Amino acid sequence: MFQKPPQKPASITLKTPAEIEKMRVAGRLAAEVLDMIGPYVQEGVTTEELDRICHEYMVNVQHVIPAPLNYRGFPKSICTSINHVICHGIPGPKKLKKGDILNIDITVIKDGYHGDTSRMFAVGTPSIAAQRVSRIAYECLCIGIGAVQPGCSLGDIGHAIQRHAESQHCSVVREYCGHGIGREFHENPQVLHYGKPGDGLRLVPGLTFTIEPMINAGQCQVKLLPDGWTVVTKDHSLSAQWEHTLLVTTTGCEILTLSPGCLL
Ligand code: MF3
Ligand code: CO
Ligand code: CO
Repeated sequence: MFQKPPQKPASITLKTPAEIEKMRVAGRLAAEVLDMIGPYVQEGVTTEELDRICHEYMVNVQHVIPAPLNYRGFPKSICTSINHVICHGIPGPKKLKKGDILNIDITVIKDGYHGDTSRMFAVGTPSIAAQRVSRIAYECLCIGIGAVQPGCSLGDIGHAIQRHAESQHCSVVREYCGHGIGREFHENPQVLHYGKPGDGLRLVPGLTFTIEPMINAGQCQVKLLPDGWTVVTKDHSLSAQWEHTLLVTTTGCEILTLSPGCLL
């Protein structure tokens, strides 16, 4: 989501056990949409075809609401972000071509609760550079998740992610971040993918939020296209993103967006 300017002390709501159970269901369903769509990611398919297949699966098979559709005016049910597109790509008539990498971001609403997850997909065999930025973004997500435990700060998570990305000579997008999630798509807190150890909110069990690092192979600067949604790298370098929805537990965290097709 878009990073808002500094706010009043963020109001953070903790989920009850009944809400957590609903978040588990929503999270699993979102992940299962990614499992379903994987085989359709092939040369020649358009991103609006991928959108239609996901939409029909979500609405007719899963009986969930695709959260992006009409969210603040977003026109489609999923986000598809190809190559140098960082996030919020709008599905359209463009055909996928060999070597493309793309992020598909799925958010569903089930029984009033949101599940939000995204993965990278490849068409054929992408360049070594494209494979590399996708892998590093995935490692950043895993390292971020590994840092989540009660008592740690949001800054600890952001720092761990930033440190890994920059050690690999990649950069972390600053303008967009992870977010609390539950009844609302984007709740407090904002979860930055960079930061300083010990800074920011301390995590407590019952908090649900996403980690979704956007990692560029080049510089971190972004540009918003005139459609008002599509965010691209200013230097046209490749970008990659992976996302999970998480629950802070007494011992660490639970990943709510797991499914049989997950890497993690
Ligand atoms: N799913 C995105 C996120 O991870 C948000 C997409 S907003 C939309 O926060 F309007 F573009 F769908
Ligand atoms: Co998200
Ligand atoms: Co998302």
